[in-house]
Amino acid sequence: VKDWTEVGALSEALKDQKVLIRGRAQTIRAVGKNMAFIVVREKGFTVQCVATVQPEIVSRQMVKYVAALSRESIIDIEGVVSVPDVAIKGATQQVEIQVRKLYCISKAAVLPINIEDAARSEAEIDKALQAGEQLVRVNQDTRLNFRVLDLRTPANQGIFRIQSQVGTIFRQFLLSKGFFEIHSPKLIAGSSEGGASVFKLDYKGQPACLAQSPQLHKQMSICGDFGRIFEIGPVFRAEDSYTHRHLCEFTGLDLEMEIKRHYSEVMDVVDRLFVTMFDNLNKNCEKELEAVRRQYPFEPLKYLPETLRLTFEEGVQMLKDAGVEVDPMGDLNTEAERKLGQIVLEKYGTEFYILHRYPLAVRPFYTMPCYDNPAYSNSFDVFIRGEEIISGAQRVHVPEFLAERAEACGIEVKTISTYIDSFRYGAPPHGGFGVGLERVVMLFCGLNNIRKTSLFPRDPLRLAP
Ligand code: 4AD
Repeated sequence: VKDWTEVGALSEALKDQKVLIRGRAQTIRAVGKNMAFIVVREKGFTVQCVATVQPEIVSRQMVKYVAALSRESIIDIEGVVSVPDVAIKGATQQVEIQVRKLYCISKAAVLPINIEDAARSEAEIDKALQAGEQLVRVNQDTRLNFRVLDLRTPANQGIFRIQSQVGTIFRQFLLSKGFFEIHSPKLIAGSSEGGASVFKLDYKGQPACLAQSPQLHKQMSICGDFGRIFEIGPVFRAEDSYTHRHLCEFTGLDLEMEIKRHYSEVMDVVDRLFVTMFDNLNKNCEKELEAVRRQYPFEPLKYLPETLRLTFEEGVQMLKDAGVEVDPMGDLNTEAERKLGQIVLEKYGTEFYILHRYPLAVRPFYTMPCYDNPAYSNSFDVFIRGEEIISGAQRVHVPEFLAERAEACGIEVKTISTYIDSFRYGAPPHGGFGVGLERVVMLFCGLNNIRKTSLFPRDPLRLAP
């Protein structure tokens, strides 16, 4: 046989045919000295292969060799497809392969974690433990220490394919709406979001930072007459807090666009982009979502055909009515955001909504105040299941005012002077937003920790693997 058949493509239609497959030896089980079973896994599909002693075809020595293979080794198997009378448990494909030849392509060392245990849901683990089964609960740190093994579980295979889809839909949708993709520098002279969460470094003798967002350069691109742009790239935050939703490096999905009349034009893009994204994920990632759900049960996200928009003032009132005291001119803390999410769900039946017109004092320096009341701002946050995934706004495009705002927010104006200067030669009104990719996937899938949706997470305690 010259060509490989994918495990997922094995079916009864191939009965009695000779095939060649490549995959990992997921489990190996010997039955006496004359027979061995191997379950071979490829891209989440599994097939049972049987090596049985047969004169001239399969020797006893070969069966012994098969039985001694180590789990997760990569093997090639040439064999004949057969269809057993009884259903095969523990494999996705309902055919079997009668092994003729087997080559070990890459031998796996003894595994530090058991992948099948790592793939079980909490409920399954509890049940197995109650039944007296011997198994080790694989905790998060251990999973992350051996991430290449952990990534092999069906749930993780699903999570990172969903993540890939989120990026693809973001890109395709925006391209279809006249945006184009840019790549802004990640080594910059000053902080782009203010605050202390900046990684500082030495840039050939000059102080520099890792970009906390593409904020400054995406706005400068607008001054370069790019009209509507987006970027998918790394964002660095020297976070001190060790929470379920903060990473020190994440993937930012950012956009910036000219505004003709009102900052609601930016919220219109949020609405169409995300409704399209959720529809697409539900339709095109059914298998992946099911794989995630099997290990981490969750309800599908509830969202409306047209995204609900509430003002910050309305949100504060709804919290007050529910007996939650919040500062009407302060920011909402995580708990208040979550509570508001519950209230909105009960009242409007959606877990995805926009909260806009935030108090100016709680927004970054580049945020445009409201024309009718400068204590508020033309800004918004977007929430999934009561947690923030987006923040966005109209920006100040008047250079003198921008410098004034930066200073008022405690930013050293000289570190961003080239940014401010960009607005001196005519700057169109504009706005945009930034989305955290890992947060979108975490919250769409109802997961409890952002480390589950970051391939190799970076947090205050982790820089490897
Ligand atoms: O709210 P942030 O800091 O806003 C900005 O960066 C602005 N420049 C965006 C804009 O265009 N106005 O970050 C945007 C999003 C958050 O809503 C969140 O989803 C994600 O980025 N995010 C993080 N994700 C993981 N770990 C962190 N430490 C994050 N900080 C923000």
